Amino acid sequence: MLLLYVVEGIVPILVFQIAWAARLAWRQDKERHKRIAAIHAASVWGSYVVSWILIYFGHTIPRKAPAWIIDTHLVIIYIIPVLLVFQMATGLKGIRPVHIGLAAFYLILWAAALVTGAMIFLSGRGYI
Ligand code: HEM
Repeated sequence: MLLLYVVEGIVPILVFQIAWAARLAWRQDKERHKRIAAIHAASVWGSYVVSWILIYFGHTIPRKAPAWIIDTHLVIIYIIPVLLVFQMATGLKGIRPVHIGLAAFYLILWAAALVTGAMIFLSGRGYI
């Protein structure tokens, strides 16, 4: 259950960071975009480490949602931290078209992670 509370607390912060970084990129404020995006990347990797430590010590999230939703969610959340490595590399090297393409993909993946995550959360709590 502790893992569930950690995820519930961290996800809104990560989403806020993405929105902020995307807004700064949109406004061409590259220096601040770089800073917020780097903080976001560190938060994502940090929260994965915290989650894995909790899972190692036996914390879980109730899995009452249909298997395909859980599997889709898991595939997405394994791709996200890897994608962020490429985001950071292409951003810092100024490979702009690839960075922007990956950014679009990243936003789509996050949206899908949120939808499937919400379904797992709601069915785990017995709401759906
Ligand atoms: C992971 C860490 C990230 C770093 C270090 C980073 C860094 C950068 C840098 C340095 C640029 C300027 C590139 C140039 O034109 O020379 C840039 C541009 C951009 N970044 Fe990121 N970025 C990161 C993540 C993201 C994410 C998560 C998004 C999507 C929400 C994103 C969206 C964009 C966009 C749309 C631009 C183009 C801005 C423009 O019109 O010039 N970046 N990024």
